[in-house]
Amino acid sequence: MIDKDFIPSAYINDVKEGKVSYKSPSNIALVKYWGKKENQLPQNPSISFTLDACATTTNISFKKLETPSNDFSFDLWFEGKSKEDFKPKIKTFLSRVEVYLPFLKNYFFKIETSNSFPHSSGIASSASGMSALALCLMDLEKQLNPEIENDFFVKKASFLARLGSGSACRSIEGDIVQWGNHTNTKGSSDLYGVKYPYEVHDNFKKYHDTILLVDKGQKQVSSTVGHNLMYDHPFAEQRFNQAHENLNQLISVFKSGDLKEFIKIIESEALTLHAMMMTSLPYFILMKPNTLEIINKIWEFREKTNSNVCFTLDAGANVHVLYPEKEKDIVFQFIKDELIVFCENQQYICDRIGFGARKL
Ligand code: PMV
Repeated sequence: MIDKDFIPSAYINDVKEGKVSYKSPSNIALVKYWGKKENQLPQNPSISFTLDACATTTNISFKKLETPSNDFSFDLWFEGKSKEDFKPKIKTFLSRVEVYLPFLKNYFFKIETSNSFPHSSGIASSASGMSALALCLMDLEKQLNPEIENDFFVKKASFLARLGSGSACRSIEGDIVQWGNHTNTKGSSDLYGVKYPYEVHDNFKKYHDTILLVDKGQKQVSSTVGHNLMYDHPFAEQRFNQAHENLNQLISVFKSGDLKEFIKIIESEALTLHAMMMTSLPYFILMKPNTLEIINKIWEFREKTNSNVCFTLDAGANVHVLYPEKEKDIVFQFIKDELIVFCENQQYICDRIGFGARKL
């Protein structure tokens, strides 16, 4: 498909008003997206576990205007309060998607959104937030054109979410989603995420992700800035090639269930992401001393017990501790005994692999 395929022709129905709600999860990348081209297209393919507990719920009430407005007409409420300062981000999103959703200026929208995780947890809400918003708008489009089929609905929701925040396109479905052209992944596209299409060993079912909140503050460098620093990055090409290669390897690992190989790919990806940050110009470090303490503790524990626990990182100091269902008791005990001391106010979130967004 190409982006023009998402521009609709005339709508069949006239919808005066209504309300729609979606709950959409966050996701954690295993092979990371870091570096983009124009229009939020990725420089390399990525793959993620969809999460379950970390999610955004968005309700949109809409009402058709007597005459279409010149600008987008909406109110934004976050966790029960009107949030003027979130509006510019939403406005940017609406202007990016307007050509694909030409009805936007015909309506007034009241957007009410809330997260299952604390706003100041250092957990980015852009993936869950943008995917929930994209789904609500797609739902209205489906009311305008009930002939839209499910497969197209899901693809277009992912396509729109991507225009809000790249990684958001991996939050529509579960439990494993791949985004970005990759020769060996059937159906893969730079335009939207697709459900991972190959065999996945039982070892990866019900995988756990305990998120250790090492630093709940605002990130010093946004991911937009970080992505842009990949433009003139000395190692960019090698990194993009490596992501393709790691995805190739993951395909065999998902099939065989080889957890030791899984760990090597996942931890290398996390450290490579941060290595890109440390070697860009300007360079920066998002890990904190406690991030490294946790990583070392995980390595020691693995050495001692032969456990299959491992870590990954996103663009921040928090650590995602990943482990298989079979080891959940022993690893969770280890987390409580040895890792939680490194979290800000001892805070962590127990999450696990999830199955995508749902309509409420
Ligand atoms: O979706 P963005 O632009 O916030 O970028 C996300 C980047 C990482 O979380 C670091 C990696 C990823 O693939 O999710």
